Amino acid sequence: RPRVTIAGLADMRSQRQPIAMVTAYDYPSAQIAEAAGVDIVLVGDSAAMTVLGHESTVPVTIDEMLMLTAAVRRGLRTPLLVADLPFGSYEISDEQAITTAQRFIKEAGADAVKIERGGTSVERARAIVAAGIPVMGHVGLTPQTASTIGGFRAQGRTAEEAVAVFRSARALQNAGCFALVFEAIPSAATEAMMPLLHLPIIGIGAGPATDGQVLVFHDLLGIYDGHAARFVKRYAELREPMITAVAAYAEDVRTHRYPAPEHEYSMPAAETQLLIG
Ligand code: KIV
Ligand code: NA
Repeated sequence: RPRVTIAGLADMRSQRQPIAMVTAYDYPSAQIAEAAGVDIVLVGDSAAMTVLGHESTVPVTIDEMLMLTAAVRRGLRTPLLVADLPFGSYEISDEQAITTAQRFIKEAGADAVKIERGGTSVERARAIVAAGIPVMGHVGLTPQTASTIGGFRAQGRTAEEAVAVFRSARALQNAGCFALVFEAIPSAATEAMMPLLHLPIIGIGAGPATDGQVLVFHDLLGIYDGHAARFVKRYAELREPMITAVAAYAEDVRTHRYPAPEHEYSMPAAETQLLIG
């Protein structure tokens, strides 16, 4: 398969060919996403919750995200690799935003970065794009600032709120974003906005009208043991078989069934003789 490019994603939108995006946080999950043939891999700051065990996405650091992104890069060839800029790493100034975005490109090998919200993030997006780095926007439910938007709830359930989401989306489009994530937006609101925007829109809990969908790796595979949002569809239940396998291993150790002869290294008999003789 040829590498997925930003121009290729725009073509997919115009040809109404749905875009499949998934998160990944390390080398094996990147290899799985590669083998599965998805179009975009996001190193989401959801890593704060799914792999680092925090209660929100806020605490994850630039260095942690860089380490995860570099690991994903090593497992990935074909999909476009997008990295989330963590909370606090881009809001202060255009200079801060460009500096942080450059680290993800130079040190971790990301193809693009993602930032959340409209508002001041619109100028940050414009500055990063002007510095030559592709930016994906993210509107609707923006977890980094969930406390300021009434918590983890759908955005755009009233006409007034939907218009606010649309204004952010359009501003990010005009700032030069190559695509947007729409998170937790009523389907009717998304459907109304779609014809008014011309960049690829990737939904998560935004209904069927978007150009693509994104899900969190641990959610779709059933590894994550926490509250699942309404939009999560589980395509596997891997947590139970993983626990069963580790428990079976521990039981084998305790009952001397592991290691068996096939797991042992051998030594020439004469050498053994020298050792014990
Ligand atoms: O961090 C993340 O996983 C995300 C996706 C849900 C879009 O931002
Ligand atoms: Na995110």
